Amino acid sequence: MFEFKNVRVEKRGEKIIENASFKLMQTGLVWLRGPSGSGKSTILRIMCALESPTHGDALYKDSLIYNLDIPTFRSNCIYVPQMPILGQMNVVECIRLPFTFRANSKKTFNEKKLYDLLEYFELNDALSKNITQLSGGEKLRIALIRAILLDPECLLLDEPTSALDLPMEQKTLQLLKELSEKKLIIASFHTGSIKGFCTQTITIENRHASAS
Ligand SMILES: Nc1ncnc2c1ncn2[C@@H]1O[C@H](COP(=O)(O)OP(=O)(O)O)[C@@H](O)[C@H]1O
Ligand SMILES: [Mg+2]
Repeated sequence: MFEFKNVRVEKRGEKIIENASFKLMQTGLVWLRGPSGSGKSTILRIMCALESPTHGDALYKDSLIYNLDIPTFRSNCIYVPQMPILGQMNVVECIRLPFTFRANSKKTFNEKKLYDLLEYFELNDALSKNITQLSGGEKLRIALIRAILLDPECLLLDEPTSALDLPMEQKTLQLLKELSEKKLIIASFHTGSIKGFCTQTITIENRHASAS
């Protein structure tokens, strides 16, 4: 699905990643692994076309990511940043909003699934609230629920459990593992909490990234 060939990234003249080369399977849960500041968010941002490599090729289904039709691509590959910006609307409106986008016109909103996910993520009370009334961890779970409801081919998650407590982290990982039987999920973690759940690993070490 995703392939990086000799990807180098420089920011303000500084080499952030010297060489990222890897190929990922079509499905599975991928642990994007590396210490803080090693370039995990950078790699995810390249995967969702928010950044481009300085050198080398970042490919999705054999096409250069930055040449793809971006709205269609973002409908197929959904990125959830570490601190999602969800605006100031009502929680239900926020979850339903992307279903009104033209690129998602073939997707149907599944209300039953929404309620199941809200229960799973212990957010039953959140529906009547405004986004501004939610904590960081609650916002993150709402962003995850919204991304899961959109049912993309691929989910790109940046430190998806960093604002969650331990039991909720375990529940989230369990759900990601189940979902990854039918889709590709790439998730960055600077800790090892995902270790027993993942099927593939991209490790960033000394500015080099490779998969195993
Ligand atoms: N906009 C930017 N300009 C310059 N350097 C940046 C920018 N964004 C990130 N960096 C640097 O790139 C490196 C990798 O950052 P990042 O991808 O956020 O790492 P991680 O997600 O693994 O913590 C860090 O050293 C960071 O300081
Ligand atoms: Mg990061």
